[in-house]
Amino acid sequence: MKTHKIAVIPGDGIGPEVINEGVKVLNKIASLDHTFQFEFTSFPWGCEYYARYGKMMDDDGIERLKEFEAIYLGAVGFPGVPDHISLWDLLLKIRKSFDQYVNIRPITLLKGAPCPLVNFNSEDINMLFIRENTEGEYAGAGDWLYRGKENEVVLQNSVFSRKGTERIIRYAFEVALKQGKTLTSISKGNALNYSMVFWDQLFEEVGKEYPSVKTYSYLVDAAAMLMIKDPKRFEVVVTSNLFGDILTDLGAAIAGGLGLAAGANINPERVYPSMFEPIHGSAPDIAGKQLSNPLAAIWSASQLLDHLGYEQYGKVILTAIEQLLIEKNVLTPDLGGSSSTSEVGDCIVELIASNMNVLQTQKN
Ligand SMILES: NC(=O)c1ccc[n+]([C@@H]2O[C@H](COP(=O)([O-])OP(=O)(O)OC[C@H]3O[C@@H](n4cnc5c(N)ncnc54)[C@H](O)[C@@H]3O)[C@@H](O)[C@H]2O)c1
Repeated sequence: MKTHKIAVIPGDGIGPEVINEGVKVLNKIASLDHTFQFEFTSFPWGCEYYARYGKMMDDDGIERLKEFEAIYLGAVGFPGVPDHISLWDLLLKIRKSFDQYVNIRPITLLKGAPCPLVNFNSEDINMLFIRENTEGEYAGAGDWLYRGKENEVVLQNSVFSRKGTERIIRYAFEVALKQGKTLTSISKGNALNYSMVFWDQLFEEVGKEYPSVKTYSYLVDAAAMLMIKDPKRFEVVVTSNLFGDILTDLGAAIAGGLGLAAGANINPERVYPSMFEPIHGSAPDIAGKQLSNPLAAIWSASQLLDHLGYEQYGKVILTAIEQLLIEKNVLTPDLGGSSSTSEVGDCIVELIASNMNVLQTQKN
């Protein structure tokens, strides 16, 4: 039997609750398949760890994570620890150290999921955001001069390398080609006259190698408006680190809310482990009360299965989530229900078991 070694970082706030449910689902799938199993190793890193030891993760944390096939992360951040520390010393450290330069965020309105836009349904909102994940506006380059003085100055530089920009654009073209979809680039070349003009130029250059992929290019402000007014026009989307971060929260809002938004941080060359996480934060306002929606974490578990080559099971999970949303019997409060986090996880496990039984019976 094959064993997949997965590092689990539950993190802070609602992180541990939602990750528990994802692990439950992954174990159920493995137990029904019989040919593989998961070996989960949990790391206690995060803000509580910081409060105790003055650091977000062990000094050799990155070395230790290297031996795993994938990382499954809840969320980090908690009042008392500045957000830039929790983000930079754990999440961004892992993304950068492991060159997870592709951030895949599906913005898919599943049937039954709430959508604040009128006159749009699940056929109209089905985008795949591919966000640059290691440089751009989040490169961490800058300075803080004359701190606290009258002439105080801060500099936050964006970094767009040819290698970094070209590889994310190429990755997006490959996905669009494989899926037979259009590719939209989102940038801001009119105002950001170096970085985004460069981005647009590389989008055009790389595009010449993919003549069969139909492309569009929008300014980020126009794209934000169009995602609301005409979401159907977006299929595969490629954009920079900051723009992708903001637009995918907007995307989450039109595709069921943060409780349903998942993200994968991929190192496509598989030199290092990739990381899977819900895109929401640690939600301190509802932490520890079993009020959190675990569906985003469960959706990211389905991305983990896709990454390990079990796409059929990734689909099984999404089908179960959709069934749950359509039936509306077992939902957390953010989706208008009164069920607990673990009740939702249990229900997904039951749906998966019965769907896989049906599949098995059909096969026999
Ligand atoms: N990837 C990450 O680890 C990540 C991402 C974003 C924010 N953060 C951190 O999380 C902390 C809180 O940030 P925030 O409040 O801006 O964002 P948040 O995503 O934690 O919460 C925003 C709102 O959405 C709700 N919400 C979020 N996830 C939910 C879920 N699964 N089920 C039900 N409701 C949910 C929260 O209750 C809150 O009202 C901060 O410390 C921030 O830095 C971490």
